[in-house]
Amino acid sequence: MRFEPRLLDEIRARLTLSDIVGRRVSWDRRKTQPGKGDFWACCPFHQEKSPSFHVDDRRNRYKCFGCGASGDHFTFLCETEGLNFPESVERLAEQAGVALPAPDPQAAKREKRRAGLADICEMAAQFFQTELAGYRGEVARSYVAKRDLTSETLMEFRFGFAPDSRDALKTFLAARDIPEAAMVEAGLVIRPDDGRPSYDRFRGRLMIPIHDDKGRVVAFGGRTLLPDGQPKYLNSPETPLFHKGIMLFNAHRAREPAFKTGEAVVVEGYMDAVALWQAGIRHVVASLGTAFTEDQVVRLWRFAPEPVICFDGDVAGVSAAHRAIDRIFPVLKSGFSFQFCFLPDGMDPDDLVKQRGLDGFHQEVSKAQSLFDAVWEREISVSRIDTPERKAALEKRFDDLIGTIRDERVRRRYQLDLKFKLSNLFFEQARQSRRDGKKSAETSTGLGMVRERVATSNDFGTERLVLGLCMRFPHLLDRNVERISRLPFTNDLHRQLRDILCRIVDDLEAAPIADLTGSFDEPLRDIMHELMLETIGLQEQGKAEFFALNHRFPLLKSNPPEDFVEAAYLHFLDILELTALEVELSSELVTADEHLDEFSWARIQALTQDLNRRREECARDEADLAERAKKIRTAPPVAVAQ
Ligand code: UTP
Ligand code: MN
Repeated sequence: MRFEPRLLDEIRARLTLSDIVGRRVSWDRRKTQPGKGDFWACCPFHQEKSPSFHVDDRRNRYKCFGCGASGDHFTFLCETEGLNFPESVERLAEQAGVALPAPDPQAAKREKRRAGLADICEMAAQFFQTELAGYRGEVARSYVAKRDLTSETLMEFRFGFAPDSRDALKTFLAARDIPEAAMVEAGLVIRPDDGRPSYDRFRGRLMIPIHDDKGRVVAFGGRTLLPDGQPKYLNSPETPLFHKGIMLFNAHRAREPAFKTGEAVVVEGYMDAVALWQAGIRHVVASLGTAFTEDQVVRLWRFAPEPVICFDGDVAGVSAAHRAIDRIFPVLKSGFSFQFCFLPDGMDPDDLVKQRGLDGFHQEVSKAQSLFDAVWEREISVSRIDTPERKAALEKRFDDLIGTIRDERVRRRYQLDLKFKLSNLFFEQARQSRRDGKKSAETSTGLGMVRERVATSNDFGTERLVLGLCMRFPHLLDRNVERISRLPFTNDLHRQLRDILCRIVDDLEAAPIADLTGSFDEPLRDIMHELMLETIGLQEQGKAEFFALNHRFPLLKSNPPEDFVEAAYLHFLDILELTALEVELSSELVTADEHLDEFSWARIQALTQDLNRRREECARDEADLAERAKKIRTAPPVAVAQ
């Protein structure tokens, strides 16, 4: 139904927006100024700790500066109570005491016809229910018993039975003056083209009524009772009441529980929804085995911000999930997404709750994958990415997919996060292939350790290595003291030791390090010991050995040329700075989740570029050093004065 703008304005004028919103949120006393019609609260559409949700009573608008949700009286009701637009208008018109005009005659006629069809469906549902209880229903009763359906469940879902007869339902409806044409339009009776008499669509099947949002029966699914009857499920055709593309089975029951818990579960089959409902999960709907549509996606977000889609863990389930992704992407919006739960070995949700109970089901759901991860896996699993062309193809697939997102903010967010993730992937992969190729050349250079570091993001070893080199080669520290003093050490003791070394760098070159450690605190002295172990004590005999340092960097034992040591030293500094940059970027990405403005967007772009450039440099240096290390180890030993 169309509504006049004037009418909507009238409703908005009579109902204060902050009153409507105020039923769902508590206002922040500090920021709110009721006199100005200016209200602030924590946003009801996303999780947050400080209020960035604003209601402006003068402009009749709300807006969240965190997630971008915005709208008026009607959208608020749609978003928070799962109503559609006309329903929200009806509801608020009533509250405002505004009379809605009578619908136009055409629409009224259509509505009347639909109501007529709904009455027919209701009669059919009652007929099927009675048949399930009657003598002909024995075969269906034993089937539902075998499937562990309780009588409460059978009643709630209004299970029924269509007798195995050509025209049992047709006769029943005809006796109630239903014209045959209406039975056909309701999808219950089929009239063959060749002029033979019409007959019941559903015969010898267990009947499951499908309800619309208002709880009216509008269609049926009929399950065969034969072990390999075909088709397994026979469904009502499209009718004026029943549109498969927007239908969700069990929606009218699930809406409120889903809204209350903020959770929704989507399964593929009728029986899965019924079984979960019986097990106590009330916020469940079924997609009826058809591919997802954008309509269904948007409707599901009225139930919960991140419905969990439960698919069978088999090939068909995974491919259904992948098809769903393509429907979801175009309509993505801030604060709304989906999770994907793949059930183990060919089980469907029905099997799962039967075998492992509610706990087993919750356990599987808790392992659900985010949409982002599901997309990532889908794309990187399809082909190898070991050449520039293949990498470019992967980038293109992501670009194309992201390009379908209509919401600008979400699109940018996906661009950023995927760019970062791709860069990590390519980087890791390049390192991996170099490692595979040159493994033997590097195992004893000490440089192999560097690779481990990047993989685990643990800089402990590299920090020690740098400190050890500073002590053993004070002139390297001296030359780079500016850079070292700013170096982002992750370990507190390392940072303290670094500060001291930078302070005493002048003395370091003149006196042996061991002479200077007297004033150190215990923990710092321990690090010195660890690095220099044999230096202390052996110093007098002139046999200073940086035991731990040599262990971390074995090549030092071959007395490598000074410029090699310096190059390695600088490389280690690069690595520490690189980690700091990685940390900075990921925290920037987290902060930007709250507020993605132009500034942080530009900053993240710049950081990502810088990171990529440095990673490439680092990888090149590493390869160079490994090359040189190999030569040093194979060259005859050179005596170098200590
Ligand atoms: P499944 O084949 O997974 O059925 O189809 P199921 O839900 O496990 O059913 P049971 O446990 O064997 O009784 C999933 C959904 O796909 C649709 C139905 O909506 C079904 O619930 N479907 C399946 C059909 O519409 N027609 C069919 O022939 C098969
Ligand atoms: Mn099943």
